[in-house]
Amino acid sequence: MVSAEARPLAQTGGLADVLSALPDALARRGHAVRRFLPAYGFIDRSGFERETEEPAVPLGPAHVPAGFLSRREPGGVVTTLVENAELFGRASIYGPPGGEYPDNARRFTFLARAVCEWAKRQARRPDILHVHDWHAALVPLLVRLGRAGEPSPRTVLTIHNLGYQGEFPARELDWLFLSEAERRQVFHVDGIEFYGGINFLKAGIVYSDALTTVSPTYAREILTPEFGCRLDGLLRWQTGKLRGILNGADYTRWDPSSDATLLHPYGPETLARKADSARALRERLHLPASDRPIMGVVSRLAHQKGIDVLTNSVERLLEEGADLAVLGSGEQAIVDHLEWLRHRHPDRIGITIGYDESLSHLVIAGSDLLLIPSRYEPCGLTQMYAMRYGTLPVVTRTGGLADTVRDSPDPSHATGFFLDDLSPGSLVATVRRALALRWVDPSAWRRRQRNAMAEDFSWDLAASRYSELYAQLL
Ligand code: ADP
Ligand code: GLC
Repeated sequence: MVSAEARPLAQTGGLADVLSALPDALARRGHAVRRFLPAYGFIDRSGFERETEEPAVPLGPAHVPAGFLSRREPGGVVTTLVENAELFGRASIYGPPGGEYPDNARRFTFLARAVCEWAKRQARRPDILHVHDWHAALVPLLVRLGRAGEPSPRTVLTIHNLGYQGEFPARELDWLFLSEAERRQVFHVDGIEFYGGINFLKAGIVYSDALTTVSPTYAREILTPEFGCRLDGLLRWQTGKLRGILNGADYTRWDPSSDATLLHPYGPETLARKADSARALRERLHLPASDRPIMGVVSRLAHQKGIDVLTNSVERLLEEGADLAVLGSGEQAIVDHLEWLRHRHPDRIGITIGYDESLSHLVIAGSDLLLIPSRYEPCGLTQMYAMRYGTLPVVTRTGGLADTVRDSPDPSHATGFFLDDLSPGSLVATVRRALALRWVDPSAWRRRQRNAMAEDFSWDLAASRYSELYAQLL
């Protein structure tokens, strides 16, 4: 597998969770899995062993050294860091907060080229190169051009988010250092070319042998102009090789009865103890002690996540009688709006800006509702985590949210709450409906919590689907 993120080494979002849990689940099924990741400057190298060979990889007109540092993880998966100090020895994954490094096309061309070079040199070549998102999406193109050796590995591209495609001016294609004939072979409207420039994800879609995305609903949505981010036409054309495989939730990390970050573990039979986490959360976020319910948010602060809809309804949400606890990082305009709101309501709103894994567990454990008003959501993991903690998700009915949450008047069935549409009015109305249930019909509320906690989004199921796909390709 090839990806820009894998927890715990490098993480900005759910991609990193997937690259930790899915390889483990595949290894449990007997696959030999190696996971390639750039050797970012902030990654602790302890336990990694450097391969003696350091091939020079063509990158544009120059040859650039690629180091490979490997470590076998407890579950058997091997992590291999692809090292080049100039390109990856930096403080961030993609760029300074809120920005992009100007040489990202070059950096991620190198990643793909280096992995192919590594594969080519193996006595036992990988059967499958499974790549994730645009950062690794040049691998299938390079494999088609024979750069990973012959016979070529089969390739799978998983799209975790169609909103990020790796679009660059055409001159950035030069990093691939193609012959004239190869350039003609790939630089056209049915190849990597995109409106006169190039598009890494598009190349991955065209040249991979199979294409997956992270939920069945998102797999359908991206075929439409509304969700297709200008690639819906191409995806409709390639729909025969596209399937949606729902992500799982890693219950070794996300289970309130065994969660090492919680001072007060709890389970379905000891739900009353959830209040201890609420108290701890209030203290941590400097909110006064209170019995008021808590609406939690754990999110990248990006347009995708609909946080602007939330900020625009906060004052009305507070009138409904619940307090707000936010953990997030991302766009400065959203951060500023949140800080301004906290300034106005210091007793009702607690905010932590930044990436804090242990606090993310406390927000999810201590909240009554988790608000996820996403514009689109390829899968979404936090709603699955929240359900296991008896924290009911309030979500838009889109992508993986639609595939994992159930809302219905029948108390034996429901696990969360759907918004009618994405608008401040609808968010407020849904929170009102949820809180009314909690106050007026506590037993129906607890029923929903227990249903949610009993849901099982196991990675083993997802891994069996990927396994089937690999077997078909081979
Ligand atoms: P996305 O990948 O689009 O950001 P997901 O719901 O798939 O959304 O995954 C988000 C992951 O990142 C979850 O594991 C969530 O707990 C974590 N996360 C998001 N923001 C933060 C944060 N500020 N601090 C800690 N963890 C975070
Ligand atoms: C992306 C998506 C998110 C998904 C995650 C892992 O970041 O935005 O919905 O859960 O990838 O697949």
